[in-house]
Amino acid sequence: MRSLYCGDLRKAQVGEEVTLVGWVHRRRDHGGVIFLDVRDREGIVQVVFDPDREQSFAIANSVRNEFVIEIKGLVRDRPQGTINPEMGTGEIEVLGKELVILNKSETPPFQLDDHQQVSEEVRLKNRFMDLRRPEMQQKLRLRAAVSSAIRNFLDDNGFLDIETPILTRATPEGARDYIVPSRTHEGNFFALPQSPQLFKQLLMVSGFDRYYQIARCFRDEDLRADRQPEFTQIDIEMSFMDQDEIMAVTEKMITGLFADKLSVNLGEFPRMTYADAMTRFGSDKPDLRNPMELVDVGDLMADIEFKVFAGPANDADSRVAALKVPGGAKLTRKLIDEYTKFVSIYGARGLAWIKVNELEKGAEGLQSPIVKFLGEDVAMAIMQRLGAVNGDLVFFGADKTNIVNEALGALRNKVGVDLEMLTCDWAPLWVVDWPMFEKTSDGGITALHHPFTAPNCTPQELEADPLAANSIAYDMVLNGCELGGGSIRIHKAEMQKAVFRCLGISDEEAEEKFGFLLNALKYGAPPHGGLAFGLDRLIMLMTGTDSIREVIAFPKTQTAACPLTNAPGEVSKEQLKELNIRLREKISV
Ligand code: AMO
Ligand code: AMP
Repeated sequence: MRSLYCGDLRKAQVGEEVTLVGWVHRRRDHGGVIFLDVRDREGIVQVVFDPDREQSFAIANSVRNEFVIEIKGLVRDRPQGTINPEMGTGEIEVLGKELVILNKSETPPFQLDDHQQVSEEVRLKNRFMDLRRPEMQQKLRLRAAVSSAIRNFLDDNGFLDIETPILTRATPEGARDYIVPSRTHEGNFFALPQSPQLFKQLLMVSGFDRYYQIARCFRDEDLRADRQPEFTQIDIEMSFMDQDEIMAVTEKMITGLFADKLSVNLGEFPRMTYADAMTRFGSDKPDLRNPMELVDVGDLMADIEFKVFAGPANDADSRVAALKVPGGAKLTRKLIDEYTKFVSIYGARGLAWIKVNELEKGAEGLQSPIVKFLGEDVAMAIMQRLGAVNGDLVFFGADKTNIVNEALGALRNKVGVDLEMLTCDWAPLWVVDWPMFEKTSDGGITALHHPFTAPNCTPQELEADPLAANSIAYDMVLNGCELGGGSIRIHKAEMQKAVFRCLGISDEEAEEKFGFLLNALKYGAPPHGGLAFGLDRLIMLMTGTDSIREVIAFPKTQTAACPLTNAPGEVSKEQLKELNIRLREKISV
């Protein structure tokens, strides 16, 4: 139908007769002349209809926004003074000669330019319309370009793209499973994969050596701005490669991508241990664009009367940390109260603070609700450790270590953004040397990555003191976002069984759930490891968006539903019967 895209028209086509197809973006009636802005995926072009071509003029007069039309016309220079440098096609216009309406449109549920006025629910319900917006088109096009570049990189480096099942058994990655009932095996269920983890390991046992898949993963977990129940991983696994080699290949892939698509040089990624990241930033995914750090001050407070601080200062599972905000003394009480409320989300019971007004005056120059409890010596020792100067503000957290880390870690991020303290656009790093396990709130232990990650010790050492063991795991972090995570895997059954035992999984249960893996490990499983990137998060960062839903064509809402299709939906009684499922009566209140 078309001779070229509307958005591709340039001065080079001046004088050419063209056929265009697209949507009416806007119609303007300028006293006798009708202008149609016609849009397709490449952009918008202005088409002019004069009254002397009666038939096409009448049609132009009748079209409305979002009609699909076909135009034959002549490309010409725009008259002097009407050139629009904002538009790719801004130097030219098309004189419309013939106009055909290919399809009409009802009044759209919202005007594309007004999307900010409508709720996300309305946008998602009418996603086909929302996706017509040039901004959405650009994001999905970048996404396609990134997928393609990644495939090319991995294909060129000897990786094989191999599909793994969607109907499978549970793959523990820390979330709940989505399950699918089996009709042919009464009472049994498939689980949708939380990741292709076990299959990619089996592929290494099979000798494929280098695998990748752009794989859909399913996790029923609490949703956040950077989490979807259904998301996409760039999933990678390699045999006979150590941690450094795996990190080098994947880092090269990401730096290449940023150079190619965004002309950004990410440089060589620094490495930081998990312990360092937690101590200095209160986070396992620190945003290194932010210059502030947490500083331990518990040792200075061990002997003070004030129990709020002395208690945690003398408890091995607790922490007293300070966060110095340069220039923060100008913050109002109201804002400090807001930050106090903010940290309470993370379980903090308060947020002590000191404003450094006139340090040379000693404690008198410090404005704070707590200096009277600390005493001058302690207060000044803290100031010295922090290198505080007049005009600074210091926040304090005192509680169980995980609460202090989460609360001050989140506060650091928030204050950094609020006070515009970020020092650069991009700050990547690797977080390495992860503990193998951590304690859960119910007193048990859980794997920090997943149970197939190789501990950095013998099975005997691991079982003797599981919480002391580190694993050979690594996460790639960019701007405070966990972009990818991976590890060297366990390739011997003995170690795998030891990990299951540490997790309280009996040998019988391990056999029932993971027998296929344990069995495969018996038959010459090679040393192997890998990593998975979150493709959605990668695109989110590359497009500068703060919601993952903006980079997925048809995402779910925060409550894991799809307003477009109304999924999840009810199923018929017959279908349930076929599946041998009886629903419990809904209890009415
Ligand atoms: P992990 O669970 O860390 O590791 O996941 C890898 C990456 O996937 C992304 N991601 C998500 N993105 C959107 N929504 C979610 N709900 C979500 N969950 C995870 C993140 C994360 O870094 N099998 C291992 C990888 C391996 O060891 O090779 C795994 O799945 O960007
Ligand atoms: P209080 O004596 O409880 O009023 O606390 C005095 C100051 O310490 C207030 O600014 C509180 O916000 C702060 N505070 C109380 N508990 C904590 C805590 N666990 N960590 C940090 N600051 C706290």
